[in-house]
Amino acid sequence: MNTSITKFDDDAPDAQQGQVQQKQVTVWDPLVRIFHWSLVSAFFIAYFTEDDLLDLHVYAGYVVAGLLVFRLTWGLVGSRHARFTDFVKRPREVWAYLKSIVGQHPRRYLGHNPAGGAMIIALLSSLVLVTISGIVIYSIEESAGPLGASLSGVSEFWEDVVEELHEFFSNATLVLVFFHVTGVLIASLQHKENLVKSMVNGRKPVEDDAA
Ligand code: HEM
Ligand code: HEM
Repeated sequence: MNTSITKFDDDAPDAQQGQVQQKQVTVWDPLVRIFHWSLVSAFFIAYFTEDDLLDLHVYAGYVVAGLLVFRLTWGLVGSRHARFTDFVKRPREVWAYLKSIVGQHPRRYLGHNPAGGAMIIALLSSLVLVTISGIVIYSIEESAGPLGASLSGVSEFWEDVVEELHEFFSNATLVLVFFHVTGVLIASLQHKENLVKSMVNGRKPVEDDAA
C-alpha cells in the first residue's frame, strides 16, 4: 500500500515523531536511484544512436534490457517503496487521483502516487516491447544478438512488421517520458518539493504535522 504523508517510513532512522519541521526520510534506496539515472542515460543513448552507431545502439539497448530485468525483480523483492504492491493501484484510484490534481487538492504520497505508479508500469511495459523487438530485428537483419541467425530467413513482411513495432514503441516511450517528466514537475509544484532531487539523494521531507 502506498504511504501517505500522514505516516512515517518505519525503515528510516530519523522517522521519529515530534521532531523539527522538514525532517527527511529515505524513500528511494540506492539501487532504485542508480536504476533510474542509468535507465535515463541508456534510453537516450539508444534513442539517438540507431542510425550510424548501431553497435553503441545495441549495447545501450542491452543495458536497458538488463535494467528492466533488475527493476521487475526489485519490484517483487526490493525495499518498501520500490515494490509494485506499494504503488500499483486500481484504475479507479488512478482516475480519482488524476481528478484531484485538476481540483488542486491531491493527496501527497511518500512513495509513487497512483498516477506516477501507472506511468511507471506503462514505461516499463513499453521498454520491454522496445527491447524484445530490438533483439528480434537484430537477429533478422544482422543475424546477431542473443537470437543469433535463428531469424535470418523470415520474410520481408515480418521484417517490416518488427521494424515498425520497434520504432513505434521507441517513440511511444519518448511520449510517455514527456508526460512522466511533466507529472513529476506538476507534483513537485503542487506539493512544494523537489522530486528530482529526491530521486538523486533518495530522501523526501516529512512535514511536522505528520507527527
Ligand atoms: C531527465 C528526465 C527525467 C526526470 C527529471 C525524471 C524524474 C523522475 C522522478 C523524480 C521520479 C520519481 C517520481 C516520484 O517521486 O514518484 C522518476 C521515476 C521513474 N522514472 Fe523518471 N525521470 C526522467 C526520465 C525518465 C526516463 C527517460 C525514463 C525511462 C525511459 C524514466 C523512467 C522512470 C521510472 C521507471 C521511474 C520509477 C522509478 C522506480 O521506482 O524504480 N524516467 N523519474
Ligand atoms: C530502449 C532501447 C531502444 C531504443 C529506444 C531503440 C530505438 C530505436 C529506434 C528509434 C530505431 C530506428 C527505427 C527506424 O527508424 O526504423 C531503432 C532501430 C534499430 N534498433 Fe533499436 N532501440 C532500442 C533497443 C534495441 C536493442 C536492444 C536492439 C538489439 C539488440 C536494437 C536493435 C535495433 C536495430 C537492428 C535497428 C535498425 C532497424 C532498421 O533497420 O531500421 N534496438 N532502434
